[in-house]
Amino acid sequence: MKSLIQSTFILIAVLASTMGAEDVIRFAQVGETVKLVPQPPNPQRHYVIWHFHDLNSPYLGSANSFGGKTISENESWKKWLSMEGYSLVISNIQEAHFGKFIFKMTSSDLQSPFFQTFRIIKVDVTMKPPSLLLPEDSLSLTCTVGVQMPNKPSIQWLNAQGQKVTTRNGLHTSRVTGQDNGQWTCVVTSNNKEQKIPVSVKVADFSPAPSHKYTSTSSSLSIPCSILSNIWEQLKTKDIEEVKWDFFPQAFSGPVSRDGQKLFSLSLEDPLTWKKDQNRGLSPAPDVKNGNLSLTRIRGKENDRGSYECSIKFKGGKILKRTVHVDVLQIIASPGTEMILGQMVNLSCTTGSPLPSDVQLKWFPPEKPSVSIPDHHSARLTIPEVGSGHSGKWRCELWQSNIRLTSAVVKLSIVEPKMNVWMVVIICSTAVIIILLVVVAVSIRRRRQRRMRHLRHQVCQCKNPKPKGFYRT
Ligand SMILES: *[C@@H]1O[C@H](CO)[C@@H](O)[C@H](O)[C@H]1NC(C)=O
Ligand SMILES: *[C@@H]1O[C@H](CO)[C@@H](O)[C@H](O)[C@H]1NC(C)=O
Ligand SMILES: *[C@@H]1O[C@H](CO)[C@@H](O)[C@H](O)[C@H]1NC(C)=O
Repeated sequence: MKSLIQSTFILIAVLASTMGAEDVIRFAQVGETVKLVPQPPNPQRHYVIWHFHDLNSPYLGSANSFGGKTISENESWKKWLSMEGYSLVISNIQEAHFGKFIFKMTSSDLQSPFFQTFRIIKVDVTMKPPSLLLPEDSLSLTCTVGVQMPNKPSIQWLNAQGQKVTTRNGLHTSRVTGQDNGQWTCVVTSNNKEQKIPVSVKVADFSPAPSHKYTSTSSSLSIPCSILSNIWEQLKTKDIEEVKWDFFPQAFSGPVSRDGQKLFSLSLEDPLTWKKDQNRGLSPAPDVKNGNLSLTRIRGKENDRGSYECSIKFKGGKILKRTVHVDVLQIIASPGTEMILGQMVNLSCTTGSPLPSDVQLKWFPPEKPSVSIPDHHSARLTIPEVGSGHSGKWRCELWQSNIRLTSAVVKLSIVEPKMNVWMVVIICSTAVIIILLVVVAVSIRRRRQRRMRHLRHQVCQCKNPKPKGFYRT
């Protein structure tokens, strides 16, 4: 059995040593760590040795089956080499280390030594500019193979999403966006074998967020602005000059003011803290250390309408800006929220500006069976004659696809018609008039009676009235 295994090894070894003429090719950049892993047979007792260039050159490292290891004392190699089993590891590879490496295994069990050759080929990867990029900056990436090879390797760049991008002679150029932040890869293909060389591209940009936000006095307000935290870490140590929020107010149905008010500025000393410039009751997000620069408030206010600008100014003068427009949804009741039974009422649900075409409006009348509205989606509702069923809370919501953006509420109260009051007034005044008439009539009669008595008194003024017969004589 043992002899069978041994002879199999010998066969493999013979095959390998004759076929192993083809180099194993490794592409590497200066500074990378390269591990050369040979695949020799596995005889019991053996001795392995690594050479550079040719077998006559001094060795780089060696190992034996008893666990002994040595590393070259050559100053050009010593610091960079180590042995892991049979494998040779070159850490932080330098210019002088590119070339051919020969692995040789000798064993009394093998008829002839086993050889395997490796070739480490230098790949130059450069990124211009090498520093942090801002959106719209131009990026150029080159990936070139340092030596002439019989079969020219093909070179292809992959972007941060792993998609192939135009590459000509190892060169790729483009203008970056936030999406380009991440690991790009140069893929070198030689002899149908791919090798990937990663490059880290840093683009400072805000995380994707809606540029339009809606709020109302009955819903919350959040103004998003955040930077991916891994980029933020670098930005903090980078040359930031200023981070601030500005507000450009907008009147209802009016244009956005050009005069900005500074709301907050970030104090860049550790720990990062916001300094409040204008108090609008907005609170910065607590996790500013992770690059979250957002502002929030529990409830919106009518004067929140306007544009909010979050900006980062770099020492070179470049500015990274994000503008969020805030619209405040309101329900306007005309002539008012208190109405008389039977009156005409118009309810408008509006932000003061036309809604984008993908934003839908939806009305929710008070939950009463008697209330029905013709159109739940029009901005204006006209109720020709309000009934008592129309009193209560009317809600209007804004929707975008399946997301509720905000909602506004108005409370209508309906009072009994003033007709009744008028009737009361008329009845009362009629009563008063009747009473007055009666009083007047009575007093007139009284007076007349009194005058009659008075007249009679005047006709007979004597103390002892004469008998009637007095006049006849
Ligand atoms: C050390 O290694 C370098 C590079 O391989 C070689 O050129 C040089 O001759 C070696 N020096 C000695 C003393 O072997
Ligand atoms: C930033 O903070 C706000 C408020 O605390 C939060 O709603 C939001 O999800 C945060 N954003 C990120 C990207 O963490
Ligand atoms: C309601 O709207 C209609 C038509 O738009 C208008 O004629 C009417 O005067 C409005 N009524 C009130 C009370 O605003």
